[in-house]
Amino acid sequence: MTDHVIVTDEGPIRLIRMNRPEKKNALTSAMYDAMAEAIETASGTSPIRCVLICGGPGAFSAGNDLGDFMKAATGGEGLGNAVLRFLYALARAERPLVAAVTGVAVGIGTTMMLHCDYAVAASDARFSTPFVALGLIPEAASSLIAPRLMGHRRAFELLVMGKPLSGEEAQAAGLVNQVAPAGEVEEQAMMAAQAIAALPPEGVAISRRLMKGTPEEIVRRMDEESSEFRQRLSSTEAREAFAAFFARKK
Ligand code: COA
Repeated sequence: MTDHVIVTDEGPIRLIRMNRPEKKNALTSAMYDAMAEAIETASGTSPIRCVLICGGPGAFSAGNDLGDFMKAATGGEGLGNAVLRFLYALARAERPLVAAVTGVAVGIGTTMMLHCDYAVAASDARFSTPFVALGLIPEAASSLIAPRLMGHRRAFELLVMGKPLSGEEAQAAGLVNQVAPAGEVEEQAMMAAQAIAALPPEGVAISRRLMKGTPEEIVRRMDEESSEFRQRLSSTEAREAFAAFFARKK
């Protein structure tokens, strides 16, 4: 249980709100578990028809908690069970996923978009994946899905060079569907979720499955990335990058 994720059901829509504003919604294990649970249970006979993921003003998510990465690096651990559970939940989600992004969306905050069926970004959104600069490598099967979505070169610029994308640039790259003023993003995303929820659910589920292909291909890539990620976490490059982040204001 954590207060850092609030899950509420509004009719057929499940709203997952990341709620750790003081850390820009950096994700801890407890948060990953809570989010995974919320997605996993929106399945089977659940009346939930669509899952909407959002953060707060100025921060969708600052990505994985770097303190947790630092601990994992020191302990020789990998991404951790909660992270993997969340990634698998994204890959295997039975209901459409919608995202409402305002402000920063770092690391998993950006790669999550690749699993969403519909996403609305604010004009102030800033998508970035500084994996390589942190001594790490891309995760969440982004190494597979991003090149398919936007082509190798744009994916390389994002995932390897770490070049951030504005809301408009993310839309041009196919990462989000629409851009809206920050104050309207959640409302627009909720409208999209409601439109999806109003469609015949079986038709939605079958179409989605056909369009996305088997989740196992995605899960396999997540596992491959995860095994490389474990090695990278304990690299000197990564440890130095984490330490530099926490030392930056001193
Ligand atoms: N892990 C842990 N703490 C984080 C964090 C993260 N990923 N991102 C932000 N925070 C914390 C900061 O340490 C700070 O805490 P403090 O007030 O106790 O010092 C607080 O959240 C606010 O962050 P701050 O850096 O002051 O906000 P900002 O608006 O200047 O910058 C970011 C926001 C997201 C651009 C910046 O915090 C950042 O680059 N974070 C790291 C992102 C990252 O590399 N994630 C991992 C991707 S794999």
